[in-house]
Amino acid sequence: MVKICGIGAGYVGGPTMAVIALKCPSIEVAVVDISHSRISAWNSDKLPIYEPGLEEVVKQCRGKNLVFSTDVEKHIFEADIIFVSVNTPTKSSGLGAGKAADLTYWESAARMVADVSKSDKIVVEKSTVPVRTAEAIEKILAHNSSKGVKFQILSNPEFLSEGTAIQDLISPDRVLIGGREGPEGQEAVLKLKGIYDQWVPEDKIITTNLWSAELSKLADNAFLAQRISSINAMSALCEITGAEVSQLSDALSKNTKIGPKFLNASVGFGGSCFQKDILNLVYICESNGLIEVANYWKQVIKVNDYQKNRFVNRVVSSMFNTVSGKKIAVFGFAFKKDTSDTRKTPAIDVCKGLLGDNACLSIYDPRVSEDQIQKDLSMGSEVKQVSIVRDAYEATKDAHGICILTEWDEFKTLDYERVFENMQKPAFVFDGRNILNVDKLREIGFIVYSIGRPLHQWMNNIPKP
Ligand code: NAD
Ligand code: UDX
Repeated sequence: MVKICGIGAGYVGGPTMAVIALKCPSIEVAVVDISHSRISAWNSDKLPIYEPGLEEVVKQCRGKNLVFSTDVEKHIFEADIIFVSVNTPTKSSGLGAGKAADLTYWESAARMVADVSKSDKIVVEKSTVPVRTAEAIEKILAHNSSKGVKFQILSNPEFLSEGTAIQDLISPDRVLIGGREGPEGQEAVLKLKGIYDQWVPEDKIITTNLWSAELSKLADNAFLAQRISSINAMSALCEITGAEVSQLSDALSKNTKIGPKFLNASVGFGGSCFQKDILNLVYICESNGLIEVANYWKQVIKVNDYQKNRFVNRVVSSMFNTVSGKKIAVFGFAFKKDTSDTRKTPAIDVCKGLLGDNACLSIYDPRVSEDQIQKDLSMGSEVKQVSIVRDAYEATKDAHGICILTEWDEFKTLDYERVFENMQKPAFVFDGRNILNVDKLREIGFIVYSIGRPLHQWMNNIPKP
């Protein structure tokens, strides 16, 4: 029986390993983590992450061919294949601070694998890493392992999106496996392919060399983020020319060379991956003297920051250039719908921007906990002008404005007449996700701003800040 050990029980490691266990009943899968609280949550009824469909998959396999454990050494020792899905955040200090990937967790996982292993193993990079990381890992393993033990490193980047992780894992667009080109490398590639073959159609499994696989993941995220910054840049132009960004997206999407996905203008992209991976790409380019290439990708992040600032400025300038002491309802805090994840959510920057102008925020998100929001907004101590409520109607009571920052479905079907009645007048809606019917809201009496739509007369007439 093949044994798999997944190191890192986070947003990637947990769901990925659970789906392998589901689809390969003959494989024993152990997911290990140094965080005791995470592992005990995986073993409880309240999983550490919210992901539609995840609970059902875990319940089906846990205790059969899927275990969650903090005994990292034991499960590495027993495994034939080790998937490493540890975090690779942006370095916060030292060489490359603010851009390069911090490989501390990866290196410590690799050293643990070298120390513990007494038999040959395949080590799979699941985390997103800089191109040529496998070379460094090979060296760490080769110089620290027991005599005669051999390792093959494969790159098998993960392409799942949060909120749709289970669906993405069960029916992936593609599975990418990169390995060394010699016979041993290719044998390892075939072994890993044999696992995915159990549920992924063969034509969706792509094999490449190691470096192409590693770089493809960074390129993938950079291309996706670039599309969002492109449509967001267009949204700014739409607002002042009378064009409508959703009509523009629709027209673009019909061009088969462009396609329909990732064309939703927004308050800005968030999530733990896009910014981190682009910064990493920028650092790699700069380190290799490719300054023009680095500057090209940097601009994607600059436009994203511009979009978040533009939104805050629009809110403040529309409300007579001051939000000081005014209650503003914030709908949504997660970086996208169907997740409780707030890493790099645009809501953090927008809320901090409004707090900087002394607004009082009443925040409602159906999945994000009060503690998490306070932690994300705190600058050392609890932020007093913030209240976190469990209901959209409560958030809007006596508020001057509403900011929609996450596209949760429930925000589309609220009773906006009731909301309007209970707000201060004039009542404003700032839709950062383009999910509401602007005409209907205007009929009710709201003054509405929706990203990339022609400005309400109100906003055209007020003096510029
Ligand atoms: P995460 O922070 O949710 O999980 C990482 C886990 O690894 C943590 O629980 C941490 O305690 C554990 N860990 C760290 N060092 C360890 C060690 N030495 N031994 C055992 N456990 C250790 O991170 P994530 O969001 O799951 O991302 C993991 C990697 O996958 C990153 O490289 C990320 O870029 C990449 N990725 C993430 C996504 C996503 O949507 N989140 C998608 C694709 C790829
Ligand atoms: C992303 C990649 O899509 C995935 O392939 C990779 O494995 C991990 O990073 P994720 O960050 O989970 O996935 O979510 P994604 O759906 O890509 O959304 C990222 C951000 O972009 C969110 O804040 C989302 O709201 C925003 N977005 C997305 C837009 O603003 N407009 C769009 O059209 C699409």
